[in-house]
Amino acid sequence: IPDHRDGEDTIAKRAHYSPPWADVSIIGVAGSSGSGKTTLSHAIVNSLNLPWVVIMSMDSFYKPLDPESSKKAFRNEWDFDAPEAIDFDELVNCLRDLKAGKRTKIPNYSFEKHARLENSTVIYSPHVLILEGIFALHDSRVLDLMDMRIYCEADADTCLSRRIIRDVRDRGRDVEGCIKQWFAFVKPNFENYVQPQKNVADIIVPRGIENRVAMSMVTQYIERRLLEKSTRHRAALKSLERGYDSE
Ligand code: CTP
Repeated sequence: IPDHRDGEDTIAKRAHYSPPWADVSIIGVAGSSGSGKTTLSHAIVNSLNLPWVVIMSMDSFYKPLDPESSKKAFRNEWDFDAPEAIDFDELVNCLRDLKAGKRTKIPNYSFEKHARLENSTVIYSPHVLILEGIFALHDSRVLDLMDMRIYCEADADTCLSRRIIRDVRDRGRDVEGCIKQWFAFVKPNFENYVQPQKNVADIIVPRGIENRVAMSMVTQYIERRLLEKSTRHRAALKSLERGYDSE
């Protein structure tokens, strides 16, 4: 924002003008575990060609476990697929900070330890924030903050096989444990809580990034929204400047 005058009396202070970075566009990407949400989110970032795009994973907001629950988690007997496992209040606070143009602290999560790490990541309000996670479209407060809601779809057998490969390779799991957890928690909760999010999605993307038509619809929509926003900001700024000139 151009500050035409010295001292306290800036345009932003006088007119409560929201700077562009206080108007982050939030895109939600929900879908089954292993459906390709992360890949889809990275593909959106790459195709947008914008400097300030951040992917925020809802995994960061898993609630910390007490020692007893943690032991269960290591035996694949803890339910990480029910909405209660996520701290939605904390997520909403972070999103509201970013919407207000403030910086916020995102916890770092370890799947190997089933725990939050000591350090957290500070992020500043970006142009576009992609929130990805099995429950990205679950909480009404989060939905209210979103500009676009995407549901990523894939066959259950594709999801399960991707999950086993990834969990063994990256998350310190074994095949038996993955399968036990899938049938005890992931599959039933998918049916109860994850799949119903389709009903609030603006766009359902079958086959993830292979689906070029859906991908280009998504990026065109985001680009159009960003253009509209910056046109509105420029118009608001111009009218403030005119106000100053006429004083
Ligand atoms: N989970 C787990 N152990 C934890 C925390 C979460 O096994 N300590 C599992 C949950 O069972 C949940 C999954 O992590 O189903 C959520 O991550 P997932 O959606 O699989 O990963 P993403 O990379 O976010 O998504 P995608 O596979 O679609 O790219």
